[in-house]
Parts: sequence; structure tokens; C-alpha cells
Amino acid sequence: MITFKKSIIFLLLSIWLSLSWATSASSHDDFLECLSHHTINSNSISQVIHTPNNSSYSTILNSFSTNLRLTSKVKPSIIITPLNESDIQAAIYCSKIHDLQIRIRSGGHDYEGLSYISDTPFVIIDLRNLRSISIDTENKTAWIQSGAILGEAYYRVAEKSKKLAVAAGVCPTVGVGGLFSGGGYSMLSRKFGIAIDNIIDAKLIDANGKIHDRESMGEDLFWAIRGGGGTSFGLIVSWKVKLLDIPEKVTIFNVTRTLEQNATQLVYKWQHIADKVDNNLVLRLSLTSRESPVLRGKRTVYVSFTTLYVGGVNELLREMKKSFPELGLVKEDCIELSWIESVLYSWFPVGTSLDALLDRKIKDLAGYVYFKRKSDYVQHPISIDGLEGLWKLMNQQGQSPPDLMFTPYGGKISDFSESETPFPHRAGNIYQIQYGLNWQKREDSPKNIARIRKIYRYMSKYVSKSPRAAYFNYRDLDLGVNNKGNTSYAQAKIWGEKYFKNNFDRLVKVKTKFDPTNFFRNEQSIPPLLSYA
Ligand code: FDA
Repeated sequence: MITFKKSIIFLLLSIWLSLSWATSASSHDDFLECLSHHTINSNSISQVIHTPNNSSYSTILNSFSTNLRLTSKVKPSIIITPLNESDIQAAIYCSKIHDLQIRIRSGGHDYEGLSYISDTPFVIIDLRNLRSISIDTENKTAWIQSGAILGEAYYRVAEKSKKLAVAAGVCPTVGVGGLFSGGGYSMLSRKFGIAIDNIIDAKLIDANGKIHDRESMGEDLFWAIRGGGGTSFGLIVSWKVKLLDIPEKVTIFNVTRTLEQNATQLVYKWQHIADKVDNNLVLRLSLTSRESPVLRGKRTVYVSFTTLYVGGVNELLREMKKSFPELGLVKEDCIELSWIESVLYSWFPVGTSLDALLDRKIKDLAGYVYFKRKSDYVQHPISIDGLEGLWKLMNQQGQSPPDLMFTPYGGKISDFSESETPFPHRAGNIYQIQYGLNWQKREDSPKNIARIRKIYRYMSKYVSKSPRAAYFNYRDLDLGVNNKGNTSYAQAKIWGEKYFKNNFDRLVKVKTKFDPTNFFRNEQSIPPLLSYA
């Protein structure tokens, strides 16, 4: 731990060094030398530092880069995979004096690749080695390092107790670092809130290399990193979360209906109940377009009602009969299992061992593909006409089928005010939409990007307005990017208000206080006030 006096010296030295280095081109060798002089243990250097000359460099660089749409002319000068906090302090210090940007990567799931792509010289700090999870079942808390994936966190908690759970995200391969700092929606969110609603402490390293916990960082910074995106403020090494009481059995079902099976009316009705049903119930829809099973040669929309109910099958059937009898759910559609099995079941075939939750490879994209995602919030049910217009766009022949996800809000998510955390999408939102399109060939990129933007344009009259809100963790650079070099407040406000609404200004104030020189920056990082334009 760097003492206060040491960190002042560190700060002065780094200001002096950045000034004196500004005119000389930063060299790879100098950077390496700096790292080796600053606490990276010489015995572990090959485990921590990966240069383009090492075979480990491309393996590590490409290990999460599944979205081939994202390319950059600049490759990272070096990848650092720290084994401890002092490795991170050294990486921050040396990046600063050599004027290299850093990109922090935990699980590598960023939709626009901001954790491993940059157009200016940069280094990646990849947290894959920092993924310990320490669990206190008595006090129902856990410290989880950012480099862990959600599957690991779920697995380790369930290993200790089948009566405790973590509210984080649906997909087990997502990294804790990115998900926790941007929100975190899971199948438990209507009952327990989103991930950030259950974070009670964090350990952060700031731009001066100083390590903070909640007490030393203060409530403003602790507020900002829970939903405002950690990467604008510092590197979060670990998070302390509340563990949540979960019954030994939960119930799931996945029932699919096509347009020929009344899906339009079902989705229309679903919009009226999704945010109001029992908080134990998350009734999520995934929608895609494929050939119709009854009308040969024609496409139809398939709507899958994917559910987790925190409780037994009989209670679930009672709730469904009361709120959504039109779906016609029967006991045979449902499976009772433990919460940890329900996480596994949503991603893997029945019979897969729980150990699959420890695998970091992204599953749902079936290897390397090109993809684009966008998001919206719906505050008033979309009319039948509106839905039919959407189906028409989804069903266009000869095009890759879009995948849409309608995720219900309400329940515990609405118990927090819009300003309690930077994540503002609380009461008043019925559901969130994620638009997704995957394709296989580079030459198809322009037409598919145009297509998803067309669907998004069509939806403008049905979704939230002023601002048209979006989920920060579904990163979308179409919403706007910072100016290169000098990050302007005015430029950042364009995308910032969409993700954070009125919380954007408070995030700017926190940024100004804790990172006034804008060391932690990317295409969508919060700007400090000094660069107001
Ligand atoms: P990655 O490592 O790419 O980081 C994302 C951003 O956070 C980057 O800007 C990075 O610099 C920053 N960052 C990462 N670690 C940091 C740290 N320790 N300190 C500071 N900054 C840090 N979301 C959701 O809410 N619920 C869900 O169920 C899913 N499911 C899902 C499935 C799949 C297949 C994908 C690709 C994405 C999701 N998401 C999601 C979205 C996900 O929450 C979002 O992409 C997260 O930012 C991913 O976090 P990673 O750590 O994996 O990404």
C-alpha cells in the first residue's frame, strides 16, 4: 500500500516526468524498463508482461475478440496481466510517464471492444489473473476480484451454500469488472435489484496509483463506479457484494410461440404485466425471425418466453394463471432446480457439468462473428400496429435474422430513485430492448449495420424520449463519441445523457475531482470539467 507521503512524491514525479517526456517519442523498451524498475517482480515478469515478441501476446490479445467488426490499426504496445496490486500500480505509473493510454479488460465483453481496442498508442491491463473470490457465508457477503467471470462467482458461492446467490448477469462468461461498473441485469433483478444495488464496498486504484476502499474514496466516487462505468475513474480491483437468500428450488420455463400461434397478442399483453407481476418472476422475451413452420418459404417471428421464478412450480403456475393465462403455461413446461442449475441451464444443454461455468470463452456467438448491438427503453406498451411494423422489418427475406431481447423491469429495480446510482432506468420503464444482429462475412457489415440502424429508427416513436435512453453496458458508439485528444463536455453530453440522464453532470464533477488530467479515458469516458468546450 502506497502511503500518503509516497503518493504525493509519486504524483509530483509523474507530473515532472510526463512533462519532460512529452517531447520524446515513448519507446517500447523504455516502457519495459520502467515496468521492471517499478515493483513488477523480476521472477514473474514473463507471466505479467507480454510484448509482440512473445507468443503469449496474440493468444491473450485475441482471447476475447469475438467481434470481427471491431478492428484497429494500432495494436497494444504491451499487454500486462497483473498478479497483484503493485503490478497495476507500476502499469499505471509507467503508462502515465510514457504517455500511453490504458485499456482495462476484465471479461472482454464490451460490445464496441473499448477494453482492447484504441486508435492511439496504448497498453492493455488484462485482469485475468485477479479473480479470487472470498465468501463469508455468516455475514452473507463476498469480495470478488474484477477479473473473475460471473460463472466463477456463481459457482464459488453455490459451492459454499446452496441457499445463497449473487445478483449479477445472465451470461456466465461476462466479466465482473465491466458488468459491475455499468449496471448488471440478471434473472434475479426484479427480486433483488441489479448488480450495483447489491455492492457494498470496492477496492480501486486511482490515476496516482493510490489504493482506495469505500471509506477512503468517499461516497461520491463510490456512487460513480456503481453504474457510471469504472473505466472513467480508476481500475477497480475487487468488489464486496451482498449475498442473497435463495430458496433451494427455483423454477424455469422456456415456451416459444410464433406469429401463427398468436405471438403478437401475447407480446401485446405481456407489455401490460411484465413489470407488474410478482417480484419473484422475470418473464423475459427473446425474439428472432426464421422460416415459418406452417407457411413454406415465408418467415415468421419466434417469441421465446424465458423465465426464472424464485419459488416452486405450483406458486409459479398460480402467478401465471392470475397475470398471464393467455400463454397457457402447464406444469410440464416447467422445471424445478437449484438456482445454480438454473444459471447453467440457460446457457448449456441439460446434463452439462457445473464446471462449464468456469469456462471464460464466450458461448452464444458460436466462434468468431461480426455483430452490432443497440438498446432502448419502453415506457408505454407498443400498439399492435407498432409490433406488426417491427415484425415486418425483422422478417425481411434474404437478410440475417435480427435477435431482439425484451427484458422486464419493475420490482426491486424501481425501489431505487433515478439518482441513487448513475444507472437511471428505474420506475416508469416497463422493459428494455436489446437489438442484435450477427453475420459471418466482412463484406456484409455495411448492409447489416444499416439494417439494425433502420430498425432502431423505426422504433423511435415507441420508446423513451428526451433523452432516448440506452443501457451503458450495451455499449453503442452510434450514440456519440468523445472528441479525439481534447474530450469535450458538450460532445460527451450527447451520449452521456442517454446512458445516465441527469446523473451525467454529477459523473463529470466526480471525474473532475478524481481524474482531472483525464488519464482514464476512452471513446465514451466521462470528461473532466477542465476540458469543457
Ligand atoms: P470488458 O473487459 O470488455 O470491459 C467493459 C468495460 O468496462 C470497458 O470499458 C473496460 O475498460 C471497463 N472495465 C472492465 N473492467 C474494469 C475494471 N476492473 N475497472 C475499471 N474498468 C473496467 N449485461 C448485463 O447487464 N446482463 C447480462 O446478462 C449480459 N449478458 C451479456 C452477454 C454477452 C455474450 C455479452 C457480450 C454482453 C453481455 N452483457 C450483459 C453486457 C455486459 O454487461 C457488458 O458488456 C460489460 O461491460 C462486460 O464486462 P466485461 O468485464 O466482460 O468486459
